[in-house]
Amino acid sequence: MWDKVQETVQFIKAKNDFNPEYGVILGSGLGSFTDDMEVAFTLPYNEIPNFPVSTVQGHKGALVFGTIGDKKVVAMQGRFHFYEGYSMEEVTFPVRVMKYLGISKLVVSNASGGVNPNYKVGDIVIIKDHINFAPEHPLRGKNEERFGPRFVNMSAPYSRNMISKSKELALELGVKVQDGVYFGLQGPTFETLAEYKMVKILGADCVGMSTVPEVIVARHMDVETFGVSIITDMGNEESIDTISHDEVLEAAQNAEPKVRALIKSLILNY
Ligand code: HPA
Repeated sequence: MWDKVQETVQFIKAKNDFNPEYGVILGSGLGSFTDDMEVAFTLPYNEIPNFPVSTVQGHKGALVFGTIGDKKVVAMQGRFHFYEGYSMEEVTFPVRVMKYLGISKLVVSNASGGVNPNYKVGDIVIIKDHINFAPEHPLRGKNEERFGPRFVNMSAPYSRNMISKSKELALELGVKVQDGVYFGLQGPTFETLAEYKMVKILGADCVGMSTVPEVIVARHMDVETFGVSIITDMGNEESIDTISHDEVLEAAQNAEPKVRALIKSLILNY
């Protein structure tokens, strides 16, 4: 794994030695974030050695390098999900690559289903913690000490400083935000009503199929991490009948300008 990561990093650096400070993972319907970037160069995943290739409709597949103001950013346009059949190592491989391209901070976005009754579709949730219910752990197996320690402290998987800064900025921007706990499941089915209830009882506010593995691996390497989620559907009796991928994409697209503005502002000001 170490050698594969370094090989990929060397390949990318040989093309362009960009040295980004921020990594950004763009989730469902957030691909247009790159419009806010002054793009320097783009690398489609299928041209990067050792990279998996994304399969889901609505997810593009490229690493986009560029600047936001004076901040250097590498954005993942499209991510890899465990439910697509990738191993956890594959799902999190790009995070390792971004670390050795130079990032010290990672911003992760996703779409999720709300189970907190105070949420509604379109809400933007700052992720303050997560519950990992994925069937496999991305750090299972022999630990590579050069990446990080065997036992990773998870007291602040989401940077407290980035959370408080983002809330300040949201207020200034007039963007209403909630905060909450994200519950990470495998998918690809949406949850049953009983499962949404379980998520709620177990202490989470929203549930989705991504993010948790990437954040774990980022924390393994001591990358400071920020997560934001768009509530694209509500997991409750009134709403469950119509939950679909189209509904998720539509709600994500509607909230996109606000999330874009928030992430842009955080990168500029943090
Ligand atoms: N459940 C799981 N993943 C999701 C959901 C959901 O309700 N909405 C968007 N991603």
